[in-house]
Amino acid sequence: MNCTYRLANKVELADQSSPYRPEQPWFLPPHRRIETIYEAIADGVTCEGGRMILITGGAGYIGAHVALQWLGNGEDVVILDNLCNSQRAAIERISTLAGKRPEFIQGDVRNRRLLDNLLRDYPIDAVVHCAGLKAVGESVREPLRYFDTNVGGSLTLCQAMAQAGVFHLVFSSSATVYGDCATLPINENCATGQPTNPYGMSKLMSENIMKSVASSDPRWSIGLLRYFNPIGAHPSGLLGEAPTSTPNNLLPYLLEVASGQRAQLSVFGNDYPTPDGTGIRDYLHVVDLALGHVCALGALRDRHGVSIWNLGTGRGYSVLEVVSAFEQVTGIKIPLRIEARRPGDIARCWADPQKALEELGWQASRSLHSMLADAWRWQCNQLGQVDVRQAN
Ligand code: NAD
Ligand code: UD1
Repeated sequence: MNCTYRLANKVELADQSSPYRPEQPWFLPPHRRIETIYEAIADGVTCEGGRMILITGGAGYIGAHVALQWLGNGEDVVILDNLCNSQRAAIERISTLAGKRPEFIQGDVRNRRLLDNLLRDYPIDAVVHCAGLKAVGESVREPLRYFDTNVGGSLTLCQAMAQAGVFHLVFSSSATVYGDCATLPINENCATGQPTNPYGMSKLMSENIMKSVASSDPRWSIGLLRYFNPIGAHPSGLLGEAPTSTPNNLLPYLLEVASGQRAQLSVFGNDYPTPDGTGIRDYLHVVDLALGHVCALGALRDRHGVSIWNLGTGRGYSVLEVVSAFEQVTGIKIPLRIEARRPGDIARCWADPQKALEELGWQASRSLHSMLADAWRWQCNQLGQVDVRQAN
């Protein structure tokens, strides 16, 4: 299958040429935010009448972007989310951007009865499984909750799908399953490592469950998408990552420093064997990542068994390079403090994305600058909305 895509901003976005003004983070007037309509079309992924795609965790950061892509293609979408790390407002935003409403069920992916009813009541023929918990530190403190949600959720979902005769599944996995891979770039044949935390273990366990399930019945067609480091936000500034507590990951923390919510960014180690001593990662735009799901499901319709695809750009940036690019994009100086290495971190990690290109026709095309500009627009819009609520 050849999955090409094009994106069109139907209505004027914020004036992207105007400089970002930290003193006016709400520079995007609300009426223009709301009127922004986004359209994404994936040629070659046809919409057959009557079918629907179930997206678990579809109110979350990645799931919402995935849902938007499908709705933009004219497909019908059901979102199942218990909102433990997201808000109902995300559903409204998806609807505004897509010009079409997803069905929304607030519920838990571990609830077998709910899944059985859902798969019976809607004409679902494929599932994208994004629901899960993702904070590495929290997973160390609460391993049982992580195994229960991430592994238990995958297990219950596969059971319900098998019973309902739905055999197409795309799973949100992570490059964390490779551990500290000796060879770079990392391709899908690299052995999976020994994850050092329950979050990573839960992803590997879910992958293994899905592999076993697929070998037991040839009707299964499962795509394990190993994400590298998704960052950025929808270019409208309406959808993005909204951490509910202190962010652990680089970009959400950086955004809070830039907007004055935190004093400085801690750089975890500058003594790694990298050109500037800081850790290198493969950051990819969340919109590119979402398009990867559309392409993967399109390809799965002609495949059986398990297929594994890395979703990354193939290019790594160090922490200091990301900070410097952010300063260029926004004009905001980021105060830094060099600290000790974070336990469990690796020095370098970037993808070989060739398999996804060859088999899916997918390639991440958005630059680091657009990831950072879009993330900053989302951050500014959020602050603007908080401000409006306070004024009311
Ligand atoms: P997120 O927390 O924003 O989204 C996850 C969504 O799942 C949330 O809306 C949450 O409310 C929902 N959820 C959690 N437990 C649930 C349950 N038991 N039943 C129903 N809904 C539930 O996280 P995200 O960044 O969008 O990540 C989506 C998936 O991608 C996760 O599985 C995550 O592990 C995986 N992933 C994320 C990254 C990343 O950097 N964000 C990297 C690799 C893999
Ligand atoms: C982390 C998780 C990984 C998960 C991924 C995406 C750990 C050890 N790994 O990966 O399991 O799949 O997020 O959710 O948590 N950094 C700083 N200062 C900060 C934050 C990060 O210097 O405040 C550095 C890190 O040391 C690293 C880089 O920035 O070099 C990226 O970190 P992060 O965004 O947390 O992603 P990963 O560590 O790649």
